[in-house]
Amino acid sequence: MKNTLIALLGVALAAALGIFAFMWLGIYHMGADSPHWKATVAMLTMMRERSIEKHAASIQVPADLDDPAIILKGAGQYAAMCAGCHLAPGMADSEIRPGLYPQPPDLGKVRVDPRQAFWVIKHGIKMSAMPAWGFSHDDAAIWSMVAFLQKLPGMTPAEYRAIVAKAPPDEEMGPMDSGAMMGGGHAHGHDDAGRAVAAAPATPAPHDHGSYAHGAARAESGMQDMPGMDMRSVARPAFAASTQARGHDAASGAAGRPGGVPAAEAVAAEFARALQRGDRADVLALLAPAARIREGGETQSRGTYARHHLDADIAFLRGVRVTLHDRRSHMDGAHAVVTSVSTVRGRAGGKPVALRSRETLTLTRSNSGWLIVAVDWSSAPLPGEDA
Ligand code: HEC
Repeated sequence: MKNTLIALLGVALAAALGIFAFMWLGIYHMGADSPHWKATVAMLTMMRERSIEKHAASIQVPADLDDPAIILKGAGQYAAMCAGCHLAPGMADSEIRPGLYPQPPDLGKVRVDPRQAFWVIKHGIKMSAMPAWGFSHDDAAIWSMVAFLQKLPGMTPAEYRAIVAKAPPDEEMGPMDSGAMMGGGHAHGHDDAGRAVAAAPATPAPHDHGSYAHGAARAESGMQDMPGMDMRSVARPAFAASTQARGHDAASGAAGRPGGVPAAEAVAAEFARALQRGDRADVLALLAPAARIREGGETQSRGTYARHHLDADIAFLRGVRVTLHDRRSHMDGAHAVVTSVSTVRGRAGGKPVALRSRETLTLTRSNSGWLIVAVDWSSAPLPGEDA
């Protein structure tokens, strides 16, 4: 009896040592390009599923997951933060997805349990690429993503594009959706808190179209790497084609330049026209949810811009005449860059304005055609004229 016990202990000890040696010697392939052993998959899957089930069991699902405003908000967040890994209707693949192991589920095809989805989005999943969004988003924001995920499976690419185009900016509650969110006081600001903002001299209000910001660094186009992804494989929707057709008047032939990107220039023209006619919705529809707008040395998220400077820009443009002198475009990796040079004359705030303005737009080809991911505006007084 005693001998059997000693023998058993010996076997257990040898097994533990063997497992330790196996791990320590680095035999197991941790590369994401080499699949787990079947046994490892089975073990990890069980552990993940049981853990999520147990932790999500007591979560209370809010009653208003069907609220269209909440779903809409989730759509914008999904397009900005999730589609690169989890795809979306009309999206065949992304640059990051083939290399992920485990593979993120295509959330346009599978419906997820709201409680479990909430828990996973908030806490992420260890040893997978699924981040814990709870660090940067409050519960209300996460529920809006869950609400959208309930509607996403079965959406057509056109429906998906339409809802994303209508979505409010992905971040703090804007004036348009106050009260629509559960629990009111929605105050997450991952964008405002999480991004590196270029050192910004305070911009006076109405903000400073006249400031000498000429030559300011061009909008950082690298920042889109995560949410925007490279969607070269995505079918180009009719949107781009239609704006292209309408865009010719303003582009004055520049679209024909070799190496140019006519569809992106058409979006730049459309953007300028929407600003000039003061159409907020059209302006915002052309900006990707994660777009950043830089003017007068200050970088803002789309949401901040929508709440603050957009109205000031529209008011400013009412008093002036913008003459486009040059517009050109080129591809820069997966992005199109469109630069436009104009003169701006008129009056603003009771003072005469005479500026040379330079706009650099960085666009990405997304599910809904070319979308602007970065705007960089700078202007300088016209030489020889005091504005
Ligand atoms: C960098 C890639 C990446 C991003 C970005 C990402 N996820 Fe994930 N997600 C994953 C991976 C990988 C898994 C699967 C993990 C696993 O199986 O262990 C996952 C799993 C999930 C699941 C669980 C699905 C299921 O079948 O149980 C949900 C829900 C989810 N993600 C939602 C989101 C949402 C919402 C966002 C955007 C806010 C997001 N994810 C962003 C990689 C990502």
